[in-house]
Order: sequence, then structure tokens, then C-alpha cells
Amino acid sequence: MKVAVYPGSFDPITYGHLDLVERSCKIFDRVIVAVLINSSKKALFTIEERKEMIKEATKHLPNVEVDHFSGLLIDYMLSMNAKVILRGLRAISDFEYELQIASINKKLSEDIETVFLMSNNKHSFISSSMVKEVASYGADVTELVPSQVEKALKKKYGYDKTR
Ligand code: PNS
Repeated sequence: MKVAVYPGSFDPITYGHLDLVERSCKIFDRVIVAVLINSSKKALFTIEERKEMIKEATKHLPNVEVDHFSGLLIDYMLSMNAKVILRGLRAISDFEYELQIASINKKLSEDIETVFLMSNNKHSFISSSMVKEVASYGADVTELVPSQVEKALKKKYGYDKTR
């Protein structure tokens, strides 16, 4: 059974993340979307809110599970008996950061591989931080995130209608 873990902050999940999950489902038997509990990073959504949004967005995908972890990703991988870390690459600017993470993880465990999927061009500019910035000013994010995430953003930022 090929198990892949897709780790990240997912604050919140975007269409870019979702595209990667949908494509990876066709490659792996089981895909675990794992939300990092990171107390040093100020998040907009709680872990539970983020997990709920991911569950809702991936409910059509039977081989996807949603979980959370804290501490080292490699320790979580070992606890799940998973050998593949999934990450998306949007643009060349992602490469250095991703290379660093993949190299550290390789140092920590020889057996675990990081597999990268290139973002669909349509989504290559979407990031959770951009989505939050745009949404915080009340602008339309319908093309960037699933509708339930859009609703949650509106609620967080305290408005109901787009500009
Ligand atoms: O979506 P993000 O915030 O870019 O994801 C980063 C993530 C979660 C993959 C990375 O920060 C991580 O794995 N953190 C857990 C701590 C860890 O294992 N650190 C060593 C490798 S950077």
C-alpha cells in the first residue's frame, strides 16, 4: 500500500492545495493531509477549523484522510508508516525553501522520499497568505478557494458581502 503524507499549514486550504490532493489520489493508495500544529506561527484558523475545511473540500475523494501533527514531520511519518512526503511546487521561488525542507528531512531519515508535483498553471499564483490578504479587504476569492472556505473567510473578517 503506497501511503503519502501531504503536510502543511493549510491556513486555509486553497484550490492549489486541492488540485494537488486530487492528482496525488490517483498515484497513491492513501493520501493523508496533515495539518501542522505550529504554536510559533500566528494562524487565522484553528487546527479544527482547518481540518474541517479540508475534510469538506476532499469529501469526494475516498482515499484521502485529514489529520494533524506537531513536532518533526519525520516522526509523524514514522508513526503513520508512510514513506512519501508530498509537496507542491508553484514557481521557481518555491524551490529553495522546498529543497531545504526536503534535504533536512532526508538527513533525518534516509528511507523517506519527498515527491513534488508541479502546480497546475491555473493555480501557480495562489497562496494561503495572498488569499487571506485579498479576503481581508473584502475582495472576491471565489476563484481561489472552495465556497465553504470563502464563507469562513468572510465570517473571520467580519463581512458578508464582497465589495
Ligand atoms: O505549508 P507550509 O507552512 O509551508 O508547510 C511547512 C511544513 C509543515 C512542511 C514544515 O514546516 C514542517 O514539516 N514542519 C514540521 C517540523 C519539521 O519537521 N521541521 C524539519 C523540516 S523543515
